[in-house]
Amino acid sequence: NWTTGNVIEEQVAAIREQVGDRRAICGLSGGVDSAVAAALVQKAIGSQLTCVYVDHGLMRKGETEQVEKDFVAATGVQLKVVDAEERFLKALAGVSDPEEKRKIIGREFIRVFERAQAEIIADQGPAVEFLVQGTLYPDVVESGGGTGTANIKSHHNVGGLPEDLEFKLIEPLRQLFKDEVRMVGQELGLPDEIVQRQPFPGPGLGIRIVGSVSKERLDLLREADAIAREELTAAGLDRDIWQCPVVLLADVRSVGVQGDGRTYGHPIVLRPVSSEDAMTADWSRLPYDVLARISTRITNEVKDVNRVVLDVTSKPPGTIEWE
Ligand code: XMP
Repeated sequence: NWTTGNVIEEQVAAIREQVGDRRAICGLSGGVDSAVAAALVQKAIGSQLTCVYVDHGLMRKGETEQVEKDFVAATGVQLKVVDAEERFLKALAGVSDPEEKRKIIGREFIRVFERAQAEIIADQGPAVEFLVQGTLYPDVVESGGGTGTANIKSHHNVGGLPEDLEFKLIEPLRQLFKDEVRMVGQELGLPDEIVQRQPFPGPGLGIRIVGSVSKERLDLLREADAIAREELTAAGLDRDIWQCPVVLLADVRSVGVQGDGRTYGHPIVLRPVSSEDAMTADWSRLPYDVLARISTRITNEVKDVNRVVLDVTSKPPGTIEWE
């Protein structure tokens, strides 16, 4: 008889048994799965868990604060936030190729995370043996099954971890689907802003700037994205759409007019999609008045943006993200 209460009780007992008086760490991405997994493990072992959140400077407006404040307030978890913005921006400077950007972001992320792991181990002693992951049932099926506790070899490009350092995995969501994970999160007292979050890619806004990534461009895109999200939420459309990437065409300019003057600015693309599983998607038929409000506000409020365009491509042939 499946209830969220049962799942939580069973998992809490199992995690306590597994971990004993040793310690665990968990990487938080800001997404639903890692947040719920962390909250569950926190409930089981409290201060024996430390979470690590890497702020790569590619997050949306308010996201890092949400993890720092709301998540900690709701769970009381010990959190280590690593500010790695400068490092990521330096590594990304001048790079426009989408695959190259993705590789750089992935590599830097692992380096920063490993360094944080090493610091926690140095602080807390050798009994940090467990790594919490928000693996869901569909992830398990997709990767060909497998049961029980796996041992993974930690990547060790940089960061001073011993080469043979191994973590035992804690994966309390292995038997759950996404909607069940959301219910567990709710039951654990996580705020809606975390539990009901729409998907957001790990590389963040870095792959929503067509062209190279810079602090200035990120700030501009963050503003436009915040406006779109605000208006979609105000219109009550968050549950109707799967997600709505907002993309800055940083290498494109077009002519416009504002007041008495000519402008020569960048376009912003709205990419609202409806989907069941992100494998296929259709463009969302958003109400014109909502689109109009988003467009007016973005062109009025965001410096250097003088045009808003709507992406009306389904997936396939378009992907959801532009890069
Ligand atoms: P695409 O663009 O492939 O996106 O149609 C499908 C879904 O996956 C998300 N996405 C990512 N999520 N890391 C992630 O965690 C990534 O590198 C990544 N790339 C795309 C995307 O937002 C959409 O929900």
